[in-house]
Amino acid sequence: MKLFLDTGDIAEVEKAAEWGVLDGVTTNPTLIAKTGRGFRETVLDICRAVPNGAISAEVVATDYEGILREAQEISSWHPQVVVKVPLIRDGVRAVSELASRGIRTNVTLVFSVTQALMAAKAGATFISNFVGRVDDISGEGMVAVAESVQMIETYGFDSEVLVASIRHPQHVVDAIRAGAHISTMPFSVMNALFNHPLTDIGLKRFLDDWNAAGLEIFEGALKT
Ligand code: G3P
Repeated sequence: MKLFLDTGDIAEVEKAAEWGVLDGVTTNPTLIAKTGRGFRETVLDICRAVPNGAISAEVVATDYEGILREAQEISSWHPQVVVKVPLIRDGVRAVSELASRGIRTNVTLVFSVTQALMAAKAGATFISNFVGRVDDISGEGMVAVAESVQMIETYGFDSEVLVASIRHPQHVVDAIRAGAHISTMPFSVMNALFNHPLTDIGLKRFLDDWNAAGLEIFEGALKT
């Protein structure tokens, strides 16, 4: 499964990129607005921080011509850019046209398998299936993810199911179980994926035993 960071914060992107496990970054208008910086400069900084990563940047137009115009502009900024388009009728129509022009798209605000079907048929590169916002209103967000993954596999679509609106590590576990292709998450959640108390306890014991025995890896090396 590919791991994406869901942020507009370049410091977070740089930190996660250092770990060597980052496949891409997703942004949305809310996340970009939070940065207090320009859209284009933020997206270009993220592209530089994650060479070869897929960097999603979202249109704000809601009509077919407007979406196409913005998508053309955003995709011209950098070859790594994937244009994020909302799952509305004009959006799906635009995705179909963008696919024929060879422009990669990420269809967002997807909550059901029927919406995912429309995105897949239009030729979406990624289908952003939101889970947290469904769970927030007592739904089961991961159900649509599992159904969409199955739908993609059954019919052989090229789209990848991207689990979005992730709130905690358990969502990542559930995304793995559903066979999702990608998970995008806030920095705090990705950082938490490393954690296990037995790792900390185990490491402490190894080092205590090693040091108590007075062992060295570089025998004969001068101590500083
Ligand atoms: O960018 C899409 C998505 O990940 C948003 O998440 O936390 O606003 O529901 P959230």
